[in-house]
Amino acid sequence: LAASFNDGPLRGVRVLISAGPTFEDIDPVRYLGNRSSGRMGYAVAAAAAAAGAEVCLVSGPVCLDTPAGVARRIDVRSAQQMYDAVLTEARASDIYIAAAAVGDYRPKGVAEHKMKKRDGAPLTLELAENPDILAAVAALDASPFLVGFAAETRDVETYARDKLERKKLDMIAANQVGGGLGFEAEDNALTLIDRQGSETLPRCDKRELAQALIARIAAQFHAQRP
Ligand code: CTP
Ligand code: CA
Repeated sequence: LAASFNDGPLRGVRVLISAGPTFEDIDPVRYLGNRSSGRMGYAVAAAAAAAGAEVCLVSGPVCLDTPAGVARRIDVRSAQQMYDAVLTEARASDIYIAAAAVGDYRPKGVAEHKMKKRDGAPLTLELAENPDILAAVAALDASPFLVGFAAETRDVETYARDKLERKKLDMIAANQVGGGLGFEAEDNALTLIDRQGSETLPRCDKRELAQALIARIAAQFHAQRP
């Protein structure tokens, strides 16, 4: 372990990782959330630390222990809180890996008290769009090497390539979700897409996938910024 810390491909590199879901509060007892256990992002944080990186993990609400070797963990709840933490940390990071399942919308207002049922009348929630964290980091003057994730239920590669371009990313890790794949599972399959092409990592343990992802990120990062 000590040797890998000293000689790893990301030795001395500052890696920021966001992981887990975000919870958008409706009232003091309810929220809108995403289906994310945080396992993939935490596995990526563990792999980055094992590769020698100085890891800062910004985490939504999850039931996971901080991986060994992670230097710092900042816990957040909402997309706005994740945005604030990531934008602050990104300025001092060399690589940002956005593995979080960020809520796209939040309730326009948070009720002060627990909302009550209304005799069978339907309830309509008004939602406001959350800021795009990755796009904001990409717009920084000196933006870090950017890696996004795209979880899609169909047309995975097409949507992922579109996000790579639209969000000005260096790499995107795309995966098929739904039908028992992806969320809350121990294993996963990923297609890594960057300007050099694409590489499909077959379905395996999230820990192994994370190690392969970190290896490709390290290679591309050093190729781009020698
Ligand atoms: N992401 C982000 N900020 C948001 C929403 C998403 O930084 N407000 C990041 C995710 O962490 C992920 C990438 O953007 O790395 C793609 O997320 P995804 O939900 O697939 O893309 P969206 O742009 O939100 O598009 P849509 O949900 O409509 O497919
Ligand atoms: Ca989204």
